Amino acid sequence: MALDKKNIDDIEVSGKRALVRCDFNVPLKEGVITSDKRIVASLPTIRALIKKGARVILCSHLGRPKGKAAPEFSLAPVAARLSQLLEIPVAFANDVVGEDAKAKAASLKDGQVMLLENLRFHKEETDNDPAFARQLASLAEVYVNDAFGTAHRAHASTEGVARYLPAVCGYLIQKEIEFMGGALDNPRRPFVAILGGAKVSDKIGVIKNLLSKADTLIIGGGMAYTFFKAQGRAIGNSLCEDDKLEVAREIISEADKTGTRLLLPADNRIADRFAADAESKVCGNGDIPDGWMGMDIGPETEILFAEALKGAGTVLWNGPMGVFEMESFAGGTNAVAKAVAESGAVSIIGGGDSVAAVTKLGYADKMSHISTGGGASLEFLEGIELPGIAALLDK
Ligand code: 3PG
Repeated sequence: MALDKKNIDDIEVSGKRALVRCDFNVPLKEGVITSDKRIVASLPTIRALIKKGARVILCSHLGRPKGKAAPEFSLAPVAARLSQLLEIPVAFANDVVGEDAKAKAASLKDGQVMLLENLRFHKEETDNDPAFARQLASLAEVYVNDAFGTAHRAHASTEGVARYLPAVCGYLIQKEIEFMGGALDNPRRPFVAILGGAKVSDKIGVIKNLLSKADTLIIGGGMAYTFFKAQGRAIGNSLCEDDKLEVAREIISEADKTGTRLLLPADNRIADRFAADAESKVCGNGDIPDGWMGMDIGPETEILFAEALKGAGTVLWNGPMGVFEMESFAGGTNAVAKAVAESGAVSIIGGGDSVAAVTKLGYADKMSHISTGGGASLEFLEGIELPGIAALLDK
């Protein structure tokens, strides 16, 4: 899908102060960044702006400090990491719209870069307060949104500010939309979607949206047990959302109507308790005894799902197949990651735990696109218009 929003190549940025919203919401442990993926993902846009001679003012949130300044949520470590990656100094303002930010923004020269302190130190950010958005806008002459992971939030720095400045997207948002939007609108076929994760309720919107678009829809993970129960099968003590049984039945019958192949696990790895060292065994999907719970797809299902991926033109994967955090129940997720990597299809990992699984297993380089969004990817795949993107200038 071609993005119908203007990007940084569509406007003049040379010599201008550009406020760039990034998603630098990175994991930190005792002040040390444990994954810089989101910082690395923002580099193409920042480098292009530097090359074009813009004066780059980066901004982001980090965590949920609830409108109060708190040192553990400071973006200072991100400024240091950015400076290493860009190999130029990155000035850090110790406030967002205060004197330090204003002074540093005013003294920027063409091609120089600075980062503001955490936007969420002000509650006006998440309130999408117009006065705060205007103050942010007054730091710059153009606005660039490249924070795909936060594009589902209508906050001052993602939506409000776009009312006061010429607003365009960066290359990361453009790439996310091209891959995920492409899969939704014009996939290379056959299009196989694999959805996992614990709860049906988290994925109803995505399942419904994909039902009419995918050729095959594979459902694994904890949510499969709600589908089994809806089919009248024995699920023992497995996870189940009883208030979603009707929805599961509707999805099964809708798949029938649209001619979408709906694949559920053929067997399961079950355990006698929810623990890494629990006793475990494999059983058919209608046979989970009381006192036992499904923890992963079984070996027959690993083969079934891998077969379904062979010859796929596009594969979209969101959500693990089992309790992959526990080594003994990670087999199904690992097998799917391997099958996606080897499928030869356009492979898109749509955010969240499946990204962690693919990265941990060393398959990240084999995927066509790994989304930087969690909640944003899910909403996008549900077909919802993201406010941070809707607010940008049309082409
Ligand atoms: C994310 O990590 O999904 C984004 O940075 C959004 O964070 P939020 O859920 O705190 O808005």
